[in-house]
Amino acid sequence: MIFFIDSANLDEIKKATDLGFVNGVTTNPSLIAKEHVSGKNSILDHYKKICELVNGEVSAEAISTKLKDIIEEGHQLAEIDNKIVVKIPIIEDGLKAIKYFSKKKIKTNCTLIFSTAQALLAAKSGATYVSPFMGRIDDYNNTPLSSMEIVSDIKTIFQNYHYSTKILAASIRSPKHIIECAKIGTDVVTASFTLLNSLIKHPLTDSGLKKFIDDYKNT
Ligand code: E4P
Repeated sequence: MIFFIDSANLDEIKKATDLGFVNGVTTNPSLIAKEHVSGKNSILDHYKKICELVNGEVSAEAISTKLKDIIEEGHQLAEIDNKIVVKIPIIEDGLKAIKYFSKKKIKTNCTLIFSTAQALLAAKSGATYVSPFMGRIDDYNNTPLSSMEIVSDIKTIFQNYHYSTKILAASIRSPKHIIECAKIGTDVVTASFTLLNSLIKHPLTDSGLKKFIDDYKNT
């Protein structure tokens, strides 16, 4: 399973890639806003800086909602660097844009996926990735299925029809989400730096290490 960091913060991205197990980045307009980056050119420039920090892919989101504008914005994003994956919301014109970019061999990440049906449509349109938002699915009381069940159903359907679309589990809230994704066979998980870093830690590792060091010193 591949790990991405879900952040637009350059320091966090650098620290995450230094860990060695994080290969790429996902961003969204809210994460960009958190970095106080505004204006089209500054945002494109920020994506360029992110691309320089990582070896893997960087999802950059188009904020347009009309086909013509999504296509124009997607091209601008894709031209920044060949690591860029154009992130497009699951809306009617978004699906059309995904189909368009698929024919142009430009990678896409279909975002804001909250149901299995949405993921199926994105795959049929040729999306490179679908991003089910696990935390937000579980937060939303109206969903009959848990995020795990939805991701698992997506996996089954993609396998049934041999879709090459990859599952990029997003909106991850806990290590449990990550381990469940690994058990299901999710291709990628994207999570905050804090959550990724917390995977390394265990209280028994800390106390065990302290004891080993103390015993070594006392020999
Ligand atoms: C995914 O690509 C999104 O950027 C992200 O995972 C959303 O997570 P949130 O629900 O924590 O905002």
